[in-house]
Amino acid sequence: MAEAQQQLPPVADRKWWKELIVYQLYPRSFKDSNGDGIGDLKGILSKLDYLQSLGINAIWLNPIYASPNDDNGYDISDYYGIMPEFGTMDDFDALLQGLHERGIKLLIDLVVNHTSDEHHWFVESRKSRNNPYRDFYHWWPAEKGQPPQRFSFFDPHGSAWEYDETTDAYYLHIFSKKMPDLNWESDKLRQQIYEMMRFWFKKGVDGFRLDAITYIAKDHDFPQLSEKDIRKKYHGDWSYFYSKGPRLHEFLKEMHRETFCYYDIVTIAETPGVLKNEALQFVHSDCKELHMLYHFEGMGLDRLPGGFKSVNPEGYQLPAFKKVYTEWDHVFEREGWGTIYLGNHDQGRMLTRWGNDSKKHRSASAKLLITFLLSMRATPIFFNGDELGMANPRFDDINDYRDVEVKAMYDYYRKKKKDLKQFMNDMKVSARDNSRTPFQWDASPNAGFTSGTPWIKVNPDHTYVNQHAQEKDVHSVLHYFRNMVALRKNRLVLVYGHYTLYDQEHNEVYAYTRTMGREGVLVVLNFSGKKIKYSLPAPLMVKETPIMNNEAGIQFHSENSECTLLPYQALIFELAP
Ligand code: GLC
Ligand code: CA
Repeated sequence: MAEAQQQLPPVADRKWWKELIVYQLYPRSFKDSNGDGIGDLKGILSKLDYLQSLGINAIWLNPIYASPNDDNGYDISDYYGIMPEFGTMDDFDALLQGLHERGIKLLIDLVVNHTSDEHHWFVESRKSRNNPYRDFYHWWPAEKGQPPQRFSFFDPHGSAWEYDETTDAYYLHIFSKKMPDLNWESDKLRQQIYEMMRFWFKKGVDGFRLDAITYIAKDHDFPQLSEKDIRKKYHGDWSYFYSKGPRLHEFLKEMHRETFCYYDIVTIAETPGVLKNEALQFVHSDCKELHMLYHFEGMGLDRLPGGFKSVNPEGYQLPAFKKVYTEWDHVFEREGWGTIYLGNHDQGRMLTRWGNDSKKHRSASAKLLITFLLSMRATPIFFNGDELGMANPRFDDINDYRDVEVKAMYDYYRKKKKDLKQFMNDMKVSARDNSRTPFQWDASPNAGFTSGTPWIKVNPDHTYVNQHAQEKDVHSVLHYFRNMVALRKNRLVLVYGHYTLYDQEHNEVYAYTRTMGREGVLVVLNFSGKKIKYSLPAPLMVKETPIMNNEAGIQFHSENSECTLLPYQALIFELAP
């Protein structure tokens, strides 16, 4: 315990944003208020009491700005306007107020690596080579020949350069060609972005989730680079290259100086390509850049190398899973602060990937994953529907998908005569649309999401997985979620306590303690569908009745030291003093 005491966070280090439990809300799929099949702000407004009932204290709202929706709102055409399908600025103001009245913070998405090609900056920029907005984007004049190779994530041809006839030049887009990359070298552009950020802060938003922020700084001289270079230097992953732009930290410090430092807000940055040894440069309090970031290391654990999001048929290995989350805990051991998530709008459902969504095990394993996220030392981020144990819909038909990414890759695979059957199978696990299906409010044909035709198919399992049914069942995932949230909020040890992993190599059980001063808990999670005899880590003494248990009952043998865990059983014990 002496050691644990030394790890106590200094009181000054306690921050409201470290104590957040973030609930990511995907507006398009949450609740439709007017029957057009698309979720909207009024829909969310009608569910504020539900959100409050969950106990969560922050919402991350995916983009709601004006957008032609090439990439579901991540292609913004007006940073100051609301997408008409979602509602009006008045609806937004009402949402912000309604959440604040309920003690819930609101984080909105900040998408400043690119805009839509329909943003007036780009409309101007492409008009002529001497347009005042020309340098808001990256242009490569055709007389210089083919631009150096750059890779595009959503383009079927894989090229991030698109030729534009009007000015006989190529523009850069590392996502779809309707999402041109902004040129952060322009002082004028940066100032306009900071002004826009201050506009939202003045409105009262509590922070931003920063989209693809590591990509904003480019190698502005565009050195020649080949697939081979990327393979050699960056493990074949362009994210690593894009995230190492020379002026990145300079821009983030400037952003902090110009915007963040004036407000009591929080930032959660999406940081593809950032490694463990680089993370603190972004979130160390002395750096004056960001508050928290989220990494991608865990998201590759069930994939095979090569291919597009190819899924390992054997799933993932628990020791590797433990290693990732343990190492990332250690990154923020003395400085900075982490986040933890197992799914979001860019990933399949956490239950399907890391748990077990079969009828037999879904409830227990959904609760186990909830226990995990809420008992780690990092700010947990849930995706809407996790609290019900929503699962992937597993579409068989490419036409059921809506996402620009999966469609582009399907075309590419078809043209290249690659194995489409395998591709469709992989997508059942890893396509982004898996998490974007409508929220399941009840058992009615459209799950209570809309009275019209939903923009994307509802998961057929909504007849038995839905909020209405779970509200009535005290043993449901929903009730468990609320209890577990309450536990984290009532026990600071679950937020700040020191984390110690036990039995690193155990293939089925993930066990760790969280300790702070004289308080301590042991978390024991059976990640398998089997009954497991498990001896509690030798030096630890626990109080026999767990404070959290996702299954009815527990079997202890011989003086606490061994227990039989049921499939996907999750237990939290208090350590005996
Ligand atoms: C981020 C978003 C993703 C989007 C991309 C481009 O990764 O999370 O949904 O497609 O950036 O904005
Ligand atoms: Ca609607």
